[in-house]
Amino acid sequence: MCFFGRKKTRHIAPAHTVVPEHIAIILDGNGRWAKKRGLPRTAGHAAGAETFRRIGTYCRDIGVKYLTAYAFSTENWRRSKDEVDAIWSLLYDYLRETLERMETERVKMKILGSREGMPERVRSLLEEIDRKAETIDGITLCLCINYGSRDEITHAVREICEECAAGTLEAKDVDADTVASHLYSAGIPDPDLVIRPSGEKRLSNFLMWQSAYSELYFCDTLWPDFKPEDIDLAVEEYSRRDRRYGGVKS
Ligand code: IPE
Ligand code: IPE
Ligand code: MG
Repeated sequence: MCFFGRKKTRHIAPAHTVVPEHIAIILDGNGRWAKKRGLPRTAGHAAGAETFRRIGTYCRDIGVKYLTAYAFSTENWRRSKDEVDAIWSLLYDYLRETLERMETERVKMKILGSREGMPERVRSLLEEIDRKAETIDGITLCLCINYGSRDEITHAVREICEECAAGTLEAKDVDADTVASHLYSAGIPDPDLVIRPSGEKRLSNFLMWQSAYSELYFCDTLWPDFKPEDIDLAVEEYSRRDRRYGGVKS
């Protein structure tokens, strides 16, 4: 089993739709999905991981170039140890599989988030993934784990301050590009479309800098129930949006 799943889906986005270059998804609703079925929350996370494999494949098939997934936030440590351990175990399995398949599936995997505090075995896997990713040219898959925008921006500010103190950067030269280049997402274009399933309408500390001009799409489907058709609906709505970036439509 690979990160993106083996099975090709047959759904194709209609020709009139504009497929976003970069889709970012907040993988939310696993716990409620499990609760509805009388299952432990961890079963919801396992089901959510399977859904991500299927949706990843579908996004690649319709031509998405960058796919970003929010899988574990800096605040998710507040959950029970059992749940946190189960999530990291699923993440480890998923990263291991993906590392093995990155070349054959042509998936360039990037990890966004603070590596401090991550389980040691995950950290060493990430070093292998980073090395392998440099050699791969294909869909870029950004997995946000131990990720929070406030942590990301704080980390960037600290690095910029250190460079100023060392004399390698002047404060007057710091601009938005400087900040962007110090974020975990440096080099990745901003998301065109941010999708949050499960009915919640907030970013929960996700890509707050990068989503300044992203189109936001909310739906009620719980993440484990999310289907390629839900991506189609989001992409169709995205195609109807008018992105102005503060300017005026010509
Ligand atoms: C998202 O699902 C997965 C993580 C945050 C790790 P949740 O676990 O937040 O599911 P709900 O929101 O409780 O249903
Ligand atoms: C956001 O979902 C984080 C991830 C999906 C990884 P949460 O379930 O943690 O967010 P809140 O608590 O509902 O804001
Ligand atoms: Mg949630």
